[in-house]
Amino acid sequence: MTVNDAKQSLILRLETITDSPLFEANEIIIAALKINRSDLILCGKNPITKADKRRIDRLFKKRKKGVPLQYLLGEWEFYSLPFKVGQGVLIPRGDTELLVDLALDELEHTKGATVFDLCAGSGAIGIALQKNDPSALVTLVEKSKKAFKYLTQNAALNNSPVKFIRANIFKWRPKHRADMVICNPPYITKNEMKSLQKEVKNEPRLALFGGNDGLKYYKFLTQNAGRFLKSGGKMLVEIGAAQADDVLNLFKANGFEYVKVFKYINQNDRVVLGTFNS
Ligand SMILES: C[S@@+](CC[C@H](N)C(=O)[O-])C[C@H]1O[C@@H](n2cnc3c(N)ncnc32)[C@H](O)[C@@H]1O
Repeated sequence: MTVNDAKQSLILRLETITDSPLFEANEIIIAALKINRSDLILCGKNPITKADKRRIDRLFKKRKKGVPLQYLLGEWEFYSLPFKVGQGVLIPRGDTELLVDLALDELEHTKGATVFDLCAGSGAIGIALQKNDPSALVTLVEKSKKAFKYLTQNAALNNSPVKFIRANIFKWRPKHRADMVICNPPYITKNEMKSLQKEVKNEPRLALFGGNDGLKYYKFLTQNAGRFLKSGGKMLVEIGAAQADDVLNLFKANGFEYVKVFKYINQNDRVVLGTFNS
C-alpha cells in the first residue's frame, strides 16, 4: 500500500464523520508519518509500513469517537503561531483572532502597556498579543491545572516573556491594575450545553459553561472592573453571537464608555470593547 492509497482509504472513512475529509486526511497522514506538508506531495507513491498504517488507523478511530482533529495533532496554529493543545484545554478558534487584532489596534500608540489575559486557556490570546507588541507586559490568568500546563508550554514554545498565574479570576486580586483586560470567557448557556457538537463536548466544561444565561463571567468582569483596570483602561471580551445586547448593556451599566460591538468576518457579533471610567 502506498501513501496515496492510505490517503484515499482514509478520505472515504472520514467522509462519514467530517465535512472536510481531504483536509483532515492530509493532517492525519502528516502526523502519523511524522512528515511535513511538502513531503506529503513528494512521497505519495512511496509504500507505507505496517506501523504507519496502524498509526493512521489509531488516529482515525479516535477521530471517529469525536476527538477533535486538533487534539489528535497535538498542536494548532493561532495568529500564525504554534500552540500545543490536547484534552483539558480549549482549542484556540479563528474567531478569537479578532480580539487580538482589536487589542493590538488599541495599543498601537501605547508603549509598555500592562495587560491581563483572564481565562487564558492555552495562552493563545495573551501570547499572540505579546509577540506582536513586544513592549506589552502581559499576565495570563488561568484556573485549570491542565490548561495551565499547556499555557506554560506555549509561552516557552513561542519564546514569549509573558507572566502566568494559576488562579480563579473570581478570587484573584492583582497587586496592580492594568491598562487593558482581554478575556474570552466561557459563555455557553445551560440550554446550548445540551446540543454541543460531539467534538466540542470533548473540550473542558470549565472552558465552555458560562452559567444558566451564559453571562456569568461578563457580569463579574464588568461589575468588578475596578479590581483589574485603571481608570481609562480598556476591556475587550469575546462574546457569543447572540450576546451583544446583553454584554453591551452590562458594560454601559458598570461605568464603561465608548462601548462598541465588533463583528467577525462571518458577520457574527464577536467582541465587545469599552473604556473604563471609574
Ligand atoms: C473559552 S476558554 C478561552 C481560552 C483561551 N483564552 C482562548 O481564547 O482560546 C475559557 C478559559 O477560562 C478558564 N476558566 C474558567 N473559569 C475560570 C476562572 N474562574 N478563573 C480562571 N480561569 C477560568 C477555562 O479553564 C478556560 O481555559
